Amino acid sequence: FTALLLSLSLSDLLNMLSVVLGIIFVLLKVIQFYQERKKLIKALEAFPGPPKHWLYGHNHLVRRELGSVGIVSWGEEYAYAFPRWFGPVLPSLIIHHPEYAKSILGRMGKSLPNIPYKFLVPWIGKGLLILNGTKWFHHRKLLTPAFHYDVLKSYVDLMSDSVKVMLDKWEKKSMEKKSVELFQDVSLMTLDSIMKCAFSYNTNYYYIRAVYDLSYLVSNRVQTFSFKDIFYDLTRKGHEFQNACKLAHNHTDKVIKERKMLLSSESELDKIQKKRHLDFLDILLCTKDANGVGLSDEDLRAEVDTFMFEGHDTTASGISWLFYCLSLYPEHQQRCREEIQGILGDRDTIEWEDLGKMTYTTMCIKESLRLFPPVPSVSRCLSKPVTFSDGRSLPVGLNIFAIHRNRDVWEDPEVYDPMRFSPENSTQRHSHAFLPFSAGSRNCIGQQFAMNEMKVALALTLLRFKLCPDPSKPPRLISQLILRSSNGIHLHLRKIH
Ligand code: HEM
Ligand SMILES: *[C@@H]1O[C@H](CO)[C@@H](O)[C@H](O)[C@H]1NC(C)=O
Ligand SMILES: *[C@@H]1O[C@H](CO)[C@@H](O)[C@H](O)[C@H]1NC(C)=O
Ligand SMILES: *[C@@H]1O[C@H](CO)[C@@H](O)[C@H](O)[C@H]1NC(C)=O
Repeated sequence: FTALLLSLSLSDLLNMLSVVLGIIFVLLKVIQFYQERKKLIKALEAFPGPPKHWLYGHNHLVRRELGSVGIVSWGEEYAYAFPRWFGPVLPSLIIHHPEYAKSILGRMGKSLPNIPYKFLVPWIGKGLLILNGTKWFHHRKLLTPAFHYDVLKSYVDLMSDSVKVMLDKWEKKSMEKKSVELFQDVSLMTLDSIMKCAFSYNTNYYYIRAVYDLSYLVSNRVQTFSFKDIFYDLTRKGHEFQNACKLAHNHTDKVIKERKMLLSSESELDKIQKKRHLDFLDILLCTKDANGVGLSDEDLRAEVDTFMFEGHDTTASGISWLFYCLSLYPEHQQRCREEIQGILGDRDTIEWEDLGKMTYTTMCIKESLRLFPPVPSVSRCLSKPVTFSDGRSLPVGLNIFAIHRNRDVWEDPEVYDPMRFSPENSTQRHSHAFLPFSAGSRNCIGQQFAMNEMKVALALTLLRFKLCPDPSKPPRLISQLILRSSNGIHLHLRKIH
């Protein structure tokens, strides 16, 4: 044995040593993982929930197409919050009470669970939605002026243009006696609108198609649980995703490049005279921090792609469900129409000042956001332990899904009743009872933009059409990042003469 030892060279010994150290390291990691897991499970014991299967967790109980919406009914039995296991080893906590939402969303910092954000990153990059820590803070501060009302003001005309194109299309479709599927047309409209507002760029059909496909593919990947598929990139859908990503990035790069050239050729005088309206892209390109440093090309592209995604799918969902709600409640629809006619007089265009006067219309929009929240859940990964107001607490590392659950807050929650949002009633609610745009420092930066777009779209539409339901094609709710209907949203559009 001594002979054997002596025959080993120093490097052999070092090799052996590193293997042993490697094994110890892995063992320590396993023990650490196991102990963290034990802590998590212990903490979750305080939260009763539906019984879980040793292998599936709760996957088999959730109606797949409904995602987080599908488990809303569990909340009736399990107050405040309940565990949700994704298979045997991945626990999460679903929270649905305003007090819990306050504890989670009120915290500084945001650390994201992999699902669904991981699948968005190859496309939207590390923009505002994905970033955290000081870089997020820096970007958020740089981008906030892009949503100043002086900037938003100039968007009203552009939004109207996009809406009118859609309405002209609908006028043709309404001649046939069939109902019209709204969601796709509305998506194309909101995408056109964000392109015009944020980038002063006219719609490029291929780009619109690519963004549309990307939204679909990411949602589909989350919905069908194919995120488990490590070979996704090799599948047909994976290829489609990569191609659409390339196309979108190409286009974004082109838009940025052209604008940079324009900015460098524009004289100071042009800028002062503001020949163009100052848009989101100008603000992105001109912004500099205290040290005079602007955003890198990679950061620029990520922000542009993030806004393109966040700024159209969400409002498309909001507008489509709003139209659906008002088709079911002709009395509220008529009251909105009368309010809008009263504000506009004989104009058929909307001005910035009109938006603030649409009191009842705004209440109807909020009520529809309550019943059909375009972003059905917000997820976080706990980067610090949390203790809730009822004393229960959770350790670091747990994934949290905050969902909207109307039953905690509202009487007859399934009834569409805009009076809930009358000024008197609004002051009496819990601060975190109604959060379509989330809350806290990571709330939606585009919420004013979104509210404006919903008002413009609704006002112009109600002036031209009466919205009536199509009972033969009721929508089927699905939650795919945003709230959609798996069979579209079909309404009869009756031209008003
Ligand atoms: C009805 C329409 C909209 C709804 C319901 C909505 C909802 C939300 C929600 C719930 C969040 C928080 C997400 C999270 O924490 O994971 C969010 C974040 C965000 N939204 Fe919106 N949104 C809408 C429209 C828009 C528009 C029009 C834009 C841009 C023009 C926009 C840009 C963003 C961005 C950049 C973030 C990330 C903000 C940050 O983390 O600092 N959203 N939105
Ligand atoms: C940022 O996110 C990462 C991963 O999601 C997390 O590990 C980190 O703690 C977060 N940082 C902050 C400041 O929240
Ligand atoms: C992207 O642009 C590059 C060069 O500008 C071009 O070679 C490539 O084919 C483009 N890709 C797509 C998907 O359009
Ligand atoms: C408050 O909401 C309830 C229920 O929607 C409604 O009946 C009532 O009229 C509202 N009150 C006011 C003052 O708007």
